[in-house]
This record gives sequence, C-alpha cells and structure tokens, in this order.
Amino acid sequence: MKTLVAPSLLSSDFANLQSEIKKVTAAGADWLHVDVMDGQFVKNITIGPPVVASIKKVSKIPLDVHLMIVNPEDYIAAFIKAGADIVTIHQESTKDPASVLKEVRKLGAKVGITLRPGTDIKKIESFFDLVDLVLIMTVEPGFGGQSFLTDQVDKIRYVRKHVKPNVFIEVDGGIDEKTSKICRDAGANVMVAGSYVFKNDYKAAIENLRGQK
Ligand code: DX5
Ligand code: ZN
Repeated sequence: MKTLVAPSLLSSDFANLQSEIKKVTAAGADWLHVDVMDGQFVKNITIGPPVVASIKKVSKIPLDVHLMIVNPEDYIAAFIKAGADIVTIHQESTKDPASVLKEVRKLGAKVGITLRPGTDIKKIESFFDLVDLVLIMTVEPGFGGQSFLTDQVDKIRYVRKHVKPNVFIEVDGGIDEKTSKICRDAGANVMVAGSYVFKNDYKAAIENLRGQK
C-alpha cells in the first residue's frame, strides 16, 4: 500500500485556510487532517462542524477528522454532515466505542479508532474488525509541535500484525523526515504532520514523509 500524507491544518495559517488548503493539496497531500478539540478531552479548543463545512467547500481531497472530544456520539452526525470523510474517535472518550464506530459507518464515513500514548493497545484490539483506520498517537493529544514518543512504535508493529492488510495505520505527533521512516518501517502507512509540513517547503516535506516505499 502506498504511504499517504495527511498534513494537519492545526499548524496552518487559519486566517488563510483556503489558500493553505490549495497549496498543500498542490504539493501532494493525500488527505487533510483536521484536529477537533473541545477543551475537555484535551486542554485546547480548535474548531467545530461549521469550520469543517467551510474546509470541505474548498477541498478536493478527503477530510480526515480526528475527534479529541468527550462524548463523540453527540457530534458524529454533525461532522459527517459537514463533510468528514474519515472520522477517528478516542477509545478513552466514550463509554461504548463500538457503537460509535458502527454509527459512523452507518452514516457513510470511514471510521478510525485511536488511543492516548498512556493507553494499552489491548484496549482497542476488540475494535480492529470494526474500523478502516487505526491511529497511533506519537505525542499526547492536544497540541502541535511536540516531540515524537519513540516508545509508541511497538504499538504500530502490534497493530500491523493484528489488522487486515487493507486497514490504514496512521501516526500523528512529532512526525518528520526521520520519525516518519521509523513509523513506515514499523508498518504505518498514513503520516500526519503539522509543523513539519507547514514550517518547511510543503512539497519537499510531503515527499520526505512519503519516503521511497
Ligand atoms: C495533536 C494533533 C496533531 C498535531 C500534530 O493533538 O492530533 O494532529 O497537529 O502536530 P505536529 O505534527 O506538529 O506534532
Ligand atoms: Zn491529529
């Protein structure tokens, strides 16, 4: 499977989102990674469904929506209506992840499961058959620009061993030229990167993240 690159808009210029989206798409981005934070699940607040709908209007590539919010079941319909193509939820954010994952599918989006770095990978294993994507967080969710947590790499290997080959394994947090290679070698095939893309030449950064595979 080809390695995909999903730049995280969190590090883009929010006053010029449309031009940022066009530039990063022209530079080769496969998906746009959209970080939704509610100030409760994480100590930061970003955007909600109206902004996702505006992004959708100007994007030609899929929206990969990472929900860092409590009770995602209350909001998934709104995000899918706004144009989310892939919706990823945190295992820790809801009492019954399986039913939320099934509901996302039913509403017509692709579905992903993720976990905080401190959460045991076994906690999401029972959901592997319900998802299109498993996201391994390589930083504590909440902010861009943090350092890659090398101790999360074993989780990538574990997931690669236990999911069907067509399930995407995405990594998010501190991903750059060097750490993306570590993740690709461990079996990840979707690279999320915020600061590394938006603080460098977009095209060169995206090519480096994709690697030679
Ligand atoms: C953090 C977000 C990330 C963030 C990554 O909670 O999930 O998507 O934007 O930023 P970098 O690539 O700068 O670590
Ligand atoms: Zn993210």
